[in-house]
Amino acid sequence: MSPIIAPSLLSADFANLEKEIKMINKSKADWIHLDIMDGHFVPNITFGMPVIRAIKKIAQKPLDVHLMIEKPERYIADFKRAGADCLSVHWEACTHLHRTIHQIKELDMLAGVAINPHTPVSFLEDIINDVDFVVVMSVNPGFGGQRFISNSIKRVKEVRKLIEKHKSDAMVEIDGGVDLENAPILVDAGVDILVAGNTVFGAENPLETIKKLRIKN
Ligand code: DX5
Ligand code: ZN
Repeated sequence: MSPIIAPSLLSADFANLEKEIKMINKSKADWIHLDIMDGHFVPNITFGMPVIRAIKKIAQKPLDVHLMIEKPERYIADFKRAGADCLSVHWEACTHLHRTIHQIKELDMLAGVAINPHTPVSFLEDIINDVDFVVVMSVNPGFGGQRFISNSIKRVKEVRKLIEKHKSDAMVEIDGGVDLENAPILVDAGVDILVAGNTVFGAENPLETIKKLRIKN
């Protein structure tokens, strides 16, 4: 089965968002990945509800919203209203992760938990049956275009093992530094959803690149 491809808009041309989204609409991409940063949880700030609402009006694919913000529980309903279909929160940012995950699910969004590169996979043991997907961060969150941390492949396998052990239905998403070279390796390791920012929007031919990302070795 080919993976779900979720181009990350962080590397798109923000002066031409409409054009970029229309490109994704006609591409073989499955989701659109939106990175929300608050300048606290991560050192960068991106965009919020008005921009998501504007994107939603044009996008013909589900919006996969990745919250890199502190206390995300304050905004779950707002992100739903703005148009999120999938919503992921960071393990490191949630004191009451179980409650937050169920808040997301009650609003009929797919609920994801993201883990930073240093967070042990075993910390997911008691939440793996509650989430729809796990986001394995393969860079330290905050910026697009960073180098893939190779230890992430081992971590994907660990997440996959945990999922099997608990007979969970969770999918595995990988986010950060995904390119045409590591994509097939990641899929083999157990990734279901490939996020790619720079690889797609920095490409000469983004449509072709999206197509190539889908092909499993
Ligand atoms: C990083 C973001 C990623 C980022 C990925 O903090 O969560 O989604 O946009 O971009 P690339 O694929 O360029 O590493
Ligand atoms: Zn992301």
